[in-house]
Amino acid sequence: MAEHVCPLWVGYLLISPLRKLLQNPQKILAEYVKEGMTVLEVGPALGFFSLPMARMVGKKGKVVCVDLQEKMLRKLLKRAAKKGLAGPIETRACAADSLGIDDLSGQVDFVLAFAVVHEVPAKQKLLSQVARALKPGGKLLIAEPKNHVPVELFDEIKAIALAQGLEEIGSPQIGSSLTTLFIKRAE
Ligand SMILES: C[S@@+](CC[C@H](N)C(=O)[O-])C[C@H]1O[C@@H](n2cnc3c(N)ncnc32)[C@H](O)[C@@H]1O
Repeated sequence: MAEHVCPLWVGYLLISPLRKLLQNPQKILAEYVKEGMTVLEVGPALGFFSLPMARMVGKKGKVVCVDLQEKMLRKLLKRAAKKGLAGPIETRACAADSLGIDDLSGQVDFVLAFAVVHEVPAKQKLLSQVARALKPGGKLLIAEPKNHVPVELFDEIKAIALAQGLEEIGSPQIGSSLTTLFIKRAE
């Protein structure tokens, strides 16, 4: 595991209700996540965004949560179960250099990668797997913490996503974040 991976205690900080004042999952994601969709979340930690997305996709949808750390995923599922939101959530522990999502090829409507790509050494591999998983018309939102990720690194991440054939279509306003939104066009 890479040294700079977010520890469990930071995972707890990230689910603080106060975070919603700056980064409200409903406000950030309502435009992209609809009932019945298949959503992929890369690096969900304890599920600050996963649980609201489970509510948004509903019983007919799916939120696949892929994280390097199994302990994060276990807590995420417990939190979801407590709120009656575990149904649409599928958790997958992955390797540092592979998300293990080959079976999702062309099936995903929306991918969220929030505060995670900067932690991944194999960025090209990660983003090529994400691009493959998206349906034509599917979207990818990448957000990184402004105070932690230099603009140069964020620009590198964007360039890697563009090199996977994704098209940049915006940069939504999200508190304290550098953001970029991509779409996968039909070939
Ligand atoms: C800073 S936390 C962000 C959590 C969440 N996205 C949020 O904003 O609340 C980063 C998460 O990404 C996970 N992670 C790091 N490298 C990863 C990789 N290569 N593949 C999947 N998840 C990874 C970490 O285990 C951690 O749970």
